Amino acid sequence: MSTAMDYTRGEQWLIGESRFCREQLGKAESVFSLGNGYMGLRSATEEGYLGERRGLFVAGCFNCASENEVTELPNGPDVLGAELTLNGCRFALDTGKILSYDRTLNLRTGELRRSVTWEAPEGEQYQLEFTRFVSRARLPLIGQKITLRPISGEVDVVLRSGLNGQMTNSGAQHFLELQKRSYDRKYLQYTSKTNQSGIDFVATQTHLFQVNGEARHIPGVMAMGRRKIFGDYALHLNGGDTLVVEKLSTIHTSRDKALEACTTQEIQEYGLAAIREVEALGYDALFAESKALWEKEWAESEIQVTSENPFDQLAIRFAQYHLSIMTPSHDDRMSVGAKGLSGEGYKGHTFWDCDQFVLPYFTFTQPEKAKSLCSYRYNTLPGARKKAEEGGFRGAQFPWESAWVSDGEVTPALGDADLITGLPQVIWTGKIEQHITADVVYGIWQYVQATGDMAFLREKGYPVILETARFWCSRLEEGPDGRLHLNDVIGPDEYKEHVSDNAYTNYMAWWNMTLAKKCLETLGGEGELQAKLADCIARIYLPQPDETGLMAQDATYLTLRDIDLTKYKNQDYVLGIYKDYNAHQLNSIQVSKQADILILFYLLENLFDEKTKAVNYRYYEARTLHDSSLSLSTHCILASDLDEREQAYGFFRKASEIDLGPNMRSSDEGIHSASIGGIWQSLIFGLAGVRLTDGVLRIRPRLPKAISRIAFPLWWQGERLKVMVEGNTITIHNTNRGTTHVYTDCYQSR
Ligand code: BGC
Repeated sequence: MSTAMDYTRGEQWLIGESRFCREQLGKAESVFSLGNGYMGLRSATEEGYLGERRGLFVAGCFNCASENEVTELPNGPDVLGAELTLNGCRFALDTGKILSYDRTLNLRTGELRRSVTWEAPEGEQYQLEFTRFVSRARLPLIGQKITLRPISGEVDVVLRSGLNGQMTNSGAQHFLELQKRSYDRKYLQYTSKTNQSGIDFVATQTHLFQVNGEARHIPGVMAMGRRKIFGDYALHLNGGDTLVVEKLSTIHTSRDKALEACTTQEIQEYGLAAIREVEALGYDALFAESKALWEKEWAESEIQVTSENPFDQLAIRFAQYHLSIMTPSHDDRMSVGAKGLSGEGYKGHTFWDCDQFVLPYFTFTQPEKAKSLCSYRYNTLPGARKKAEEGGFRGAQFPWESAWVSDGEVTPALGDADLITGLPQVIWTGKIEQHITADVVYGIWQYVQATGDMAFLREKGYPVILETARFWCSRLEEGPDGRLHLNDVIGPDEYKEHVSDNAYTNYMAWWNMTLAKKCLETLGGEGELQAKLADCIARIYLPQPDETGLMAQDATYLTLRDIDLTKYKNQDYVLGIYKDYNAHQLNSIQVSKQADILILFYLLENLFDEKTKAVNYRYYEARTLHDSSLSLSTHCILASDLDEREQAYGFFRKASEIDLGPNMRSSDEGIHSASIGGIWQSLIFGLAGVRLTDGVLRIRPRLPKAISRIAFPLWWQGERLKVMVEGNTITIHNTNRGTTHVYTDCYQSR
């Protein structure tokens, strides 16, 4: 499919859309989405179209719509909608003519702008501009501005605009309506409550009008429909007049820390006071304070990529922008969902995507945010203990999908239709995809090592490390060979269910237990656990390379049928293999959905020699379809480690195109947070060769031909480093100490 996206503007700070594209509404809503970690706002249009997926998600506000569903992030009230009627004709881009069109997301400022010259079916022409932002300075605030200029002559304008509580999550209704009302014919307020978790949502809104730069009071005719409240604002414009409407909205919830103890009425009063306060400032001043915070963040975190393909620079900024808006670092009871806050996909749940793919970015660039994400995992320990207990195990087993801190496991039981049986497929991941327990520990340990945050380790790190190790000890099963095995699991490769001794899971469990043992050597005590760990570490089965260097992804993988995968490898869409095989059949073929054993070779790189890495990279790359968006970054990193620079660059480009390219339609349900983190990992861990292993930070760049320079910030032990990789040289400037070290001849090829 061709794309309407334009990546060539504004020195790689702007993502443009050069034509109105009905087919890509959903994807564009995700790619252009706005947010601030408190909430995420899909970039649906003001006027609305068939096929759109309007969405506003407030972090942490999980709710379970009905008994046979799992908890999810509900789609909050729509605040964006605004219908313009011009001389009796409703403004809509699928009627009349579009004379010019442009939509741009400015990654530097977080503002979305859409400019249109539109000819109504009757022939009158209008210039319209819509801008909006989600404030970084005031987390519950969304600012919108609509500018209208009639070109052909005078016009009677009616603006219908307000708050719409009819939103659902693909039909599932999460809210009970509590109250809707207007104040002073000016302020609108819509109050609802989630039907199971009982969270109050209070949306408050005001509209401000200016004609030719002069403020105008236009009293609205307020109306209420079912689950909505809006105002009709009517006025007359002469040709060449300019109307500016500022629409300011706030969303407060009873989950906000500051409002937790408040009654619904107090939250409503708070919302009203907040809207009065922002109204006095107006869009421009509010946008300026938000923009100033974006500028500060960019000044601290900007990465420069000098590449033959300017898209590379844009891709990393796009990734950093989304990493920033998806992360609820204001509250450590919340984490990053697989789709961030940009869509309904994966129900807002947190997966290993966060610990292994998103967290490293923050660990190395904004450690305070990393700490918040690590604390979230600590805060979910009670749920992890519960999950272990329910499975008959000890210690803490982290849920495959995680939501509110006390929820425990929230993976749905059933998924898509089975090709052969026609029944919904059982989702096994929540029961047997267990490597996440070690992934959580890996992420926390990286944070501790990179920051030296011993207070965190003592208070929150140790309990997680020890409890998870206790889980693994109880989970291992003794086989006839006297070794300890992990039977009946799913590894990262979800095309292989109910396998034994998945290499990734076994090694990570071993690593988790080994870390716990080391911690106990420092801490002392827990004699029984120490003895158990010593035994489990000595006896756990760890697959070894055969004489050629090949390692088995799991106990049976190498015995399975090999088929010609060319067709699926060449498809420009993912999951195509499901059109020919069901999950059961995929279990009997040597095909991997995503990077599996290969992740080990970089997470635990010191355990394996070059030959093993190279042999396995070649073997498994040929059998991996990258049907999960978080696969490509691993292959990029490994290719780079193996000095396959051009292949690594190819993976980096592909990873960058998952959300920005036209093909991956799963972006419609939200951007892919792990892939977004993977763009950063591909560039920094892959091409720039940064790695933290066994407490040692190393940089071993392998720049491909197209890239001549990468400059990036890196936090290490509380100090901010500015690293520049260029030509044969690495320059490291320590901004805390003011020292600079230059290392030359760093580019030895193998
Ligand atoms: C992948 C998982 C991932 C999940 C959420 C699945 O398709 O196989 O590894 O955690 O998506 O992104």
